[in-house]
Amino acid sequence: MSDSIRVKGYASVANVSCGFDCIGYAISDPGDVITLSKRKSSGIEITMSGYGSDSISCDLEKNTGGKAVLSLLEAIDSQQGFKLHIEKGIPPGSGIGSSSASAAAAVFAANELLGNPLSLDELLIHGMAGEAVASGGFHADNIAPALFGGIILVRSYDPLDILNLPVPENLFSTAVLPDMTINTKEARKILPTNIPLKNAIEQAGNLSGFTLGLHESDFDLLGRSMVDHFAEPYRAKLIPGYDAVRKSALDSGAIGCGISGSGPSVFALSDSLEKAQVIGTAMVKEFQKVGLLSKAYSSPIHTNHPEILG
Ligand code: HSE
Repeated sequence: MSDSIRVKGYASVANVSCGFDCIGYAISDPGDVITLSKRKSSGIEITMSGYGSDSISCDLEKNTGGKAVLSLLEAIDSQQGFKLHIEKGIPPGSGIGSSSASAAAAVFAANELLGNPLSLDELLIHGMAGEAVASGGFHADNIAPALFGGIILVRSYDPLDILNLPVPENLFSTAVLPDMTINTKEARKILPTNIPLKNAIEQAGNLSGFTLGLHESDFDLLGRSMVDHFAEPYRAKLIPGYDAVRKSALDSGAIGCGISGSGPSVFALSDSLEKAQVIGTAMVKEFQKVGLLSKAYSSPIHTNHPEILG
């Protein structure tokens, strides 16, 4: 058994419009790369590099990757010590699952080095413990896709019930990251605690339509269903130019468009990689108009677990 491993954890889009806190998907670019090595003494020593790494704590209790590994070690009653290096390819606070990518890669890597005592499904709860450090909430719509790949439905949190949704062959994602950050904990605080019944009914209808649209590769139905009454109306104001950016995506042929996670990234779905790139360019131009530099990532949905690089 090897003493060291490098693993890439993938970015993800959570809150897929009508799927607030319950639908997320993984994307194949960008990602974080972690290197995990066994050490003789117990404890986990964390170092960081890459995008925004100086803003992330290396304290075990405050680092999503470290906390996820710690949670795994406690569950299996292991004293194994590790050195964990996290190379951030995903800017923190960008809304595409930066903290989840590190947590998923770290917990996956630790399980590998320990001889896979837990199944991939069993790792989720430990990834969630890591994710909770950053988001202040116990949600799985980033960490589950980061760990399993694909499009994931969190049907229930208590008990936890995670389901794979079908990924239509020609479904592509665009995620545009403006040069600003939003803190997920803060963005959760501005959400209402009660939702009017009329909005809840519409959200339930859209969510059902969205899942059926995936099953039948019915992109018109997907588009009609990509409306969010829970978070977008409150969080849109945190993202300068959001309405214009969304309109530019739809005008460029997007199936649907919404806030990725708690923002500021904005995502769109489309039916070809070429269209996903055109949409990304249009969205970047709209962000420019409000003085924000941004970067577009266009890719297929990533359908696998974190990747072992060596
Ligand atoms: N569902 C989470 C939230 C995703 O909106 O708070 C955060 O990326």
